Amino acid sequence: MAEVRVSLVYAVLFLSSLVVAIVEDLDDSFKQSRMEDVWLVDFYAPWCGYCKKLEPVWHDVGAELKSSGSPVRVGKMDATAYNGMASEFGVRGYPTIKLLKGDLAYNYKGPRTKDDIIEFTNRVAGPAVRPLPSKQMFEHVMKRHNVLFVYIGGESPLKEKYFEVASELIVYTYFFSALEDVLPEALTLPELPSVVVFKDGSYFTYDQYEDGSLSTWVNRERFQGYLPIDGFTLYELGETGKLVAIAVIDEKDHTEDNSRLKNLIQRVSTEYRDLFNRDFQFGHMDGNDYINGLIMGEVTVPSVIILNTSNEQYFLPSEPVDTMEKLVNFINSVLDGTAPAYGGDGVLQRVRRVGYDAKSTVMSVFRSSPLLGCFLFGLPLGVISLMCYGMCTAESDDGADDMELMKREGLTDEEDEEEAEEDEERHRQSAKLEEYEEGEGGLRMKESCNNRRRRRP
Ligand SMILES: *[C@@H]1O[C@H](CO)[C@@H](O)[C@H](O)[C@H]1NC(C)=O
Repeated sequence: MAEVRVSLVYAVLFLSSLVVAIVEDLDDSFKQSRMEDVWLVDFYAPWCGYCKKLEPVWHDVGAELKSSGSPVRVGKMDATAYNGMASEFGVRGYPTIKLLKGDLAYNYKGPRTKDDIIEFTNRVAGPAVRPLPSKQMFEHVMKRHNVLFVYIGGESPLKEKYFEVASELIVYTYFFSALEDVLPEALTLPELPSVVVFKDGSYFTYDQYEDGSLSTWVNRERFQGYLPIDGFTLYELGETGKLVAIAVIDEKDHTEDNSRLKNLIQRVSTEYRDLFNRDFQFGHMDGNDYINGLIMGEVTVPSVIILNTSNEQYFLPSEPVDTMEKLVNFINSVLDGTAPAYGGDGVLQRVRRVGYDAKSTVMSVFRSSPLLGCFLFGLPLGVISLMCYGMCTAESDDGADDMELMKREGLTDEEDEEEAEEDEERHRQSAKLEEYEEGEGGLRMKESCNNRRRRRP
């Protein structure tokens, strides 16, 4: 038995030494060494729950990059121990994932899964613009990408601009370049050189007079015109600055109403592209849980809602939308400012948010496990009540009479005190629970720890 245990210990030691080799622990000397390679770095805090959750994923990322022969080196840095360096890199929450390439630093904001992080790493670590030298290559990438940006033509100032924009926006999407002769015959471009985006079964050309700067245009066009939306996509869509029009539906419900609304939104995204694409992103969301959390209310299913993700305002149609005309009218009323806006990010809304989050945390604990809920919230309550009972019934000489008097006159604030303590306890519990809670409410990403708590391990 003891032998087994000893060999287990050796196995663990051996494994952990492998792990260290795959993910390098970085310290102050990183300042000099970072320039020599491309680095993928996890800036973490030892006390942060989300960082601990990332740890095994991070090891897998390191192992896979190493085994696939990637030149990218994977490291992690305790941002609390190397405070100065972390702030130089602009680390504000934990964990922060960055890809460092020469002078450039790219933030990773996607889901913290191995595949997503590796896809990001390979995209950003590679060339900002990838050449498509043949028809076959062109067809290959066309099949693989739903949204595809391609510069078409020879050397030009537009090409320089395109490279500049690509090296910044490579965090979001791929960029390609090609000569005209690799394009499908059916495709005719008004002029060369051009920047074209292929998506939604069609293609759209950048027009520098109508579309503003190239980077604004790329940012606006980097999503399909219509797409399924979840909490994370919504957060990403928000970065384009567009309003998001969502059909809130129930995917499992195949009744007329459900599919009609989805179809309407889908159609408006293509048939009214010229009118609305600049300001709107379209899609559908399965179920109303997420939206309810967002607006701290309840939307009916099916229904349509338009969100302004930059100020957390939302718009609802005054009557159910069941025709194209009503949908277009609703969208126009949001555009021209006649539709009433709800929600927002004002002080009042933020106060409501705190209360709402606390309430839904408590509710979700009780819903998922009533017993645990009773234990978590009942035990502290029980202890507090017992303590209060003990204190009140404890014999005391002085002040007892005063107390009696006040009690009779209803002046005691004993009850209030108890309530305050309860509240505090509940608050502490919900703060703890929040760390484990995912995807509920709020457009901001909750899955990171705040810098402010640094001093409270
Ligand atoms: C959305 O929010 C932004 C930022 O507050 C604001 O400038 C814009 O006018 C809003 N759009 C609409 C349609 O309300």
